[in-house]
Amino acid sequence: MAQVEFRLSSGAVPQGVVPIPGDKSITHRAFLLGASATGETVVRGANRGDDCMRTVNALRALGVVIDEEDGIFRVQGCAGRLRSPGAPLDMGNSGTGTRLLAGLLARQSFPTTIDGDESMRTRPMGRIVHPLRLMGASITGERDGSLLPLTISGEALHGIRYETPVASAQVKSAILLAGLGAEGETVLVEPTRSRDHTERLIAYMGGAIETEGTTVRLQGGSLLSGAPIDVGGDPSSAAFLIVAGLIVPGGDVCVEGILSNPTRTAFLNVLDRMGADLVREPMESEGPEELIRVRARAGVLKGTEIGGAEVPLLIDEIPILAMAGAVCRGVFRVSDSAELRLKESDRIALIVEVLSRFGLAVDEQKDGFLLRGAGAEGKIKGATIASGGDHRIAMAATILALAARGKSRIKDVSCVDTSFPEFVDLLGRVGLGKALTRKESR
Ligand code: S3P
Repeated sequence: MAQVEFRLSSGAVPQGVVPIPGDKSITHRAFLLGASATGETVVRGANRGDDCMRTVNALRALGVVIDEEDGIFRVQGCAGRLRSPGAPLDMGNSGTGTRLLAGLLARQSFPTTIDGDESMRTRPMGRIVHPLRLMGASITGERDGSLLPLTISGEALHGIRYETPVASAQVKSAILLAGLGAEGETVLVEPTRSRDHTERLIAYMGGAIETEGTTVRLQGGSLLSGAPIDVGGDPSSAAFLIVAGLIVPGGDVCVEGILSNPTRTAFLNVLDRMGADLVREPMESEGPEELIRVRARAGVLKGTEIGGAEVPLLIDEIPILAMAGAVCRGVFRVSDSAELRLKESDRIALIVEVLSRFGLAVDEQKDGFLLRGAGAEGKIKGATIASGGDHRIAMAATILALAARGKSRIKDVSCVDTSFPEFVDLLGRVGLGKALTRKESR
């Protein structure tokens, strides 16, 4: 297979206004909840990355009719009653798709096998298998169901009261998707808040769900109605362009249409603490989520600490925040983030590796890392980096390379298509295209 890499040089100045493509988390949920509802769900602005398209294809294989025309998807709801796909479902690199779909499969009378790529086969599944079994699902899989592939079925599920050991929206959502078809109430208590798109969409589609603090209550058997869903722009994708505006010299970037859900925008608060020149403005939006535009201008950044209850609200943005930390004056420290080791890669190890290759002083810790910022972007020299097949590591390293002096290479970047296939195009639209060449080698 062809290997794709980015070759980067310094000197280009990011300036301009860009819209941000659809949110990955909401897109998965729009399709899965659309299938769980009755009637049609029209999804506009869906995320077109490989992960979300795996969810669409898995649902189609399970008998759900999903048509697409001019970028608009129409899901014909079947109240969550699926049919056997007749073959294992390949969820690729998608942790969210795999775990959320498992919740829906736990309500089906026939067994379905779900599998994923090499990285997915190392990621923990026990965290969803345990509660789904408590609800009455039958699940078999590698190492007693703690790893993919998993074979899942279940009839007559019942609601449970469950305290999740980690704040995880994937675990919460898998249980809620199963709970929609269970008898009685499902009560979930999280140690701290995680992203709440599933709860918002269930309420928007007419489900009986309530949230109080970190407790969510869902009444089983409540039917959802198909509804129009306008997917807002993905804050996790926006973060790459915002940090480019902040750390590449002369930067002035305005990113439009970003979801402003507080369970997703905590990375902006971190950048505020670092003294970033950020201006947020509300934008018009419809549906259960609000949108903002963010203008980011380059300037001096200070060090900060990230930890505690803030972590689940910015877990996906830590790789790119670390790149902002690389140019800061002072110490940038991340703790309470052991979950990062269980993502598409061991992100603590890879962030430390990337920063070290760019010449930074960084100490790896069990649950995070401690980084001494270079003090200014010009002090960092270009480097050759391997992404480890992790989309967010590839994109984060690309942004630091654009801020560094001299030439860089980021290897193994086809993974960017997992979540943000428009990444290179949008860098071009803010004037960074001339500093980036995409090369294929065999
Ligand atoms: C997601 C939840 C987060 C996040 C992932 C998307 C979701 O994972 O890291 O990229 O859409 O529910 P956890 O919920 O497992 O922490």
